[in-house]
Amino acid sequence: MALPHSRPASRRWFAPRRSSELLPTAMELSSPEAKPVAVKGPVAELLHVSKLYGSGDTVVRALDDVCLTVERGDYLAVMGTSGSGKSTAMNILGCLDRPTSGYYRLNGVPVESLDDDALADLRNRELGFVFQQFHLLPQISALDNVMLPMIYAGVPPEERRERARQALERVGLAQRIDNRPNQLSGGQQQRVAVARAIINRPALLLADEPTGALDSRTTEEVLAIFDDLNRQGITILLVTHEQEVGDRARRVVHFRDGRLAG
Ligand SMILES: Nc1ncnc2c1ncn2[C@@H]1O[C@H](COP(=O)(O)OP(=O)(O)OP(=O)(O)O)[C@@H](O)[C@H]1O
Ligand SMILES: [Mg+2]
Repeated sequence: MALPHSRPASRRWFAPRRSSELLPTAMELSSPEAKPVAVKGPVAELLHVSKLYGSGDTVVRALDDVCLTVERGDYLAVMGTSGSGKSTAMNILGCLDRPTSGYYRLNGVPVESLDDDALADLRNRELGFVFQQFHLLPQISALDNVMLPMIYAGVPPEERRERARQALERVGLAQRIDNRPNQLSGGQQQRVAVARAIINRPALLLADEPTGALDSRTTEEVLAIFDDLNRQGITILLVTHEQEVGDRARRVVHFRDGRLAG
């Protein structure tokens, strides 16, 4: 059931929270920032989801009757061989694609009931994305990159700047906020991308091979930030081929031929 919920005040955003604190306080419920989200139940739920590409003899069953629940506060790694359906599942979880059959509920909202505009709105409100290749805008500073999603979300300019500055400080980049992406290392760029992904306090952070382009030292930097964010209550789902990355998650699921193999 959808209940009114607010984001914590910006000062508290990165403060450590007990799991009991993940539910909104009375003060937060009455905040003018309140947004309607479900505060109970799973963050994401795939129910008997199948995805077929093509038709007739050439049909590819990229996902085959997949059921997956991502609980609030979870940190889930999705693994599996190439072509097993991981990106297809991520695209559906990220509201970038729709299942051929089955159901997807994101923060309690039945996604199949939404038209494309409402789906895009849900995606912007509830999801943060991190990609293998960072996808930062090259001509603008780290601070401006992190502020971008807040422009789309209608956050006032002074608050945008302060929140972006805090987010970059939190990922260890306080001294680099004015640098453009090509003035930063790969690990630093990915940390900017993580700050950007969580700046609107998404219900779910989705990351497709977030360390795939990084060496082992910078992989560790990014994983330490994911650990930290998850400890603070952010729900994370990432796809990885790397066992050391999977080992850091609370839970690992494996795809095989479009099916979940445990
Ligand atoms: N747009 C598409 N049209 C046709 N087939 C597709 C399409 N996208 C994916 N597939 C097929 O669906 C299956 C699952 O692909 P998917 O990209 O989900 O795999 P993956 O697990 O992400 O692989 P990788 O580890 O290589 O990224 C593959 O057989 C792929 O060829
Ligand atoms: Mg893939």
